[in-house]
Amino acid sequence: MGTTGTLGTEPSTGPSTGPAGPGQVEPQQVCVVGAGYVGLTAAAGLAELGHAVRCVESNPGRLATLAGGGIPIHEPGLDELVAKHLGTGRLSFTGDIEAAMDGAEVALLCVGTPPRPDGDPDLRQLGRAAAQAAAAATRDVVLVVKSTVPPGSCEALELLAAGHARPGVRASVASNPEFLREGQAMRDFFFPDRVVVGVDDPALEPVVAGLYPKEWPLLVCDRRSAELVKYASNTFLAVKISFANEVAALCEALGADHSKVLTGVGLDGRIGGDFLKPGPGFGGSCLPKDLSGFIAVAGSMGQEATLARAVREVNDGSRASLVGKLEAALGPLSGKRVGVLGLAFKPGTDDVRHSPALGLVEDLVALGASVQAHDPVASVPSLGDGQVDDPYEAASGADAVVVVTAWPEYGDLDPGRLQRCMEGHVVLDAVNLLDAAAFGAAGLDVYGVGRGHPLSVAPVLWRPLEWMIDAEPTVSLDEAGPEDVDVLAGR
Ligand SMILES: NC(=O)c1ccc[n+]([C@@H]2O[C@H](COP(=O)([O-])OP(=O)(O)OC[C@H]3O[C@@H](n4cnc5c(N)ncnc54)[C@H](O)[C@@H]3O)[C@@H](O)[C@H]2O)c1
Repeated sequence: MGTTGTLGTEPSTGPSTGPAGPGQVEPQQVCVVGAGYVGLTAAAGLAELGHAVRCVESNPGRLATLAGGGIPIHEPGLDELVAKHLGTGRLSFTGDIEAAMDGAEVALLCVGTPPRPDGDPDLRQLGRAAAQAAAAATRDVVLVVKSTVPPGSCEALELLAAGHARPGVRASVASNPEFLREGQAMRDFFFPDRVVVGVDDPALEPVVAGLYPKEWPLLVCDRRSAELVKYASNTFLAVKISFANEVAALCEALGADHSKVLTGVGLDGRIGGDFLKPGPGFGGSCLPKDLSGFIAVAGSMGQEATLARAVREVNDGSRASLVGKLEAALGPLSGKRVGVLGLAFKPGTDDVRHSPALGLVEDLVALGASVQAHDPVASVPSLGDGQVDDPYEAASGADAVVVVTAWPEYGDLDPGRLQRCMEGHVVLDAVNLLDAAAFGAAGLDVYGVGRGHPLSVAPVLWRPLEWMIDAEPTVSLDEAGPEDVDVLAGR
């Protein structure tokens, strides 16, 4: 090991204070396999911490972008840090795994683990990456799995790696799941809620934990537990989002206000308000995939994962309810023109993997509607002319506009200008971003998620009254009107 590195300043995206931050590490020679959201963030972050990092990427297009000084993904603060450490020489990119692994003590595996069509995780990229890294290792190496994987994967990878390593070279495998959020990945790297290190061989703990400053919150456990921390965390986040959407649907029927209800719920310290907001359902490259993976792992252990399955069902229903709201407002959607604002699965990223917006576009097209979509950052080549450069252009001539991604710029849309662009007057705000009163004043009908409106709210709630009185009601609850209150109450 070399001398202790003195570390750089916080990235511009990081807060000025926080539970942790750049500290001091013993520099290690690190290979990062995969230059996607996780790999690029880890590579830049580890270089900032003082390690010597070589990042290997197999996609020629991505590699060319990186070689040309570009960043193939949208992630605030990442470009500055990459440029800085290309300059310091602590970071380099290559397509050659042999060069990247030469002398490396640690290889971070950051490749994709997408779902297969049946929902089971597809671990082939990971198997290939582990085999290549083990084969290229010139000294004993720890393969650190940052990709999200089902429990048991590290053990399997170790068997696989052993079969590829050169004679006399030991390739061990540890788990170090990644928890970054796209759009604030650099902040999450430097100010983690926790670093989870899963090792079955205690000798590996200092190597893996030593990648990070010792001040950072650390949980050391066995590999299966570490792998399950990640799956269980994402499954719980999915539970919260689906729960919020279920409460929101009830708010719509009751005329209750989701923002007050869910704020009230989240203020309970045992529950917490994060991820307790209704919307178009969860998407992205992680939650749907990891929920499916959790269900698949449970199934492989003979368990039902009843709650996780229900969460998935609620999530599918959240998207379907957007279509239902449009149909309620516009009638059959065939021949209707709909402007879709937002394609990324959330603001702050260009990631459209499993984006609810893309799912909605598919549903609308399948129902015969034509779609004009806009996103400030994300691009979806398959939409062709259906993706436009300006939100007002997306609204041009539209019968309805749907806001699906909560990009802040959509909150600044001019209601009057939007209304003049549109043919119709229906605005479905699936992320509750817009000032409904201002848009209403401009002559637009704004439908949100979790807010009752005159068409959805039951005018009188009879059931509580029925539950309060002993006698059988003499008036049928189905036919009762406000004038029957006395009769129902037995007066
Ligand atoms: N994106 C997130 O927000 C996030 C957060 C936490 C965990 N994860 C997990 O981390 C993993 C990676 O996610 P991602 O979003 O960065 O994926 P990604 O698809 O953006 O990036 C993976 C990269 O690895 C490259 N690659 C694949 N095989 C390779 C090989 N053998 N050699 C070199 N490069 C190779 C691919 O070309 C790609 O550029 C997944 O398991 C994911 O579930 C992702």
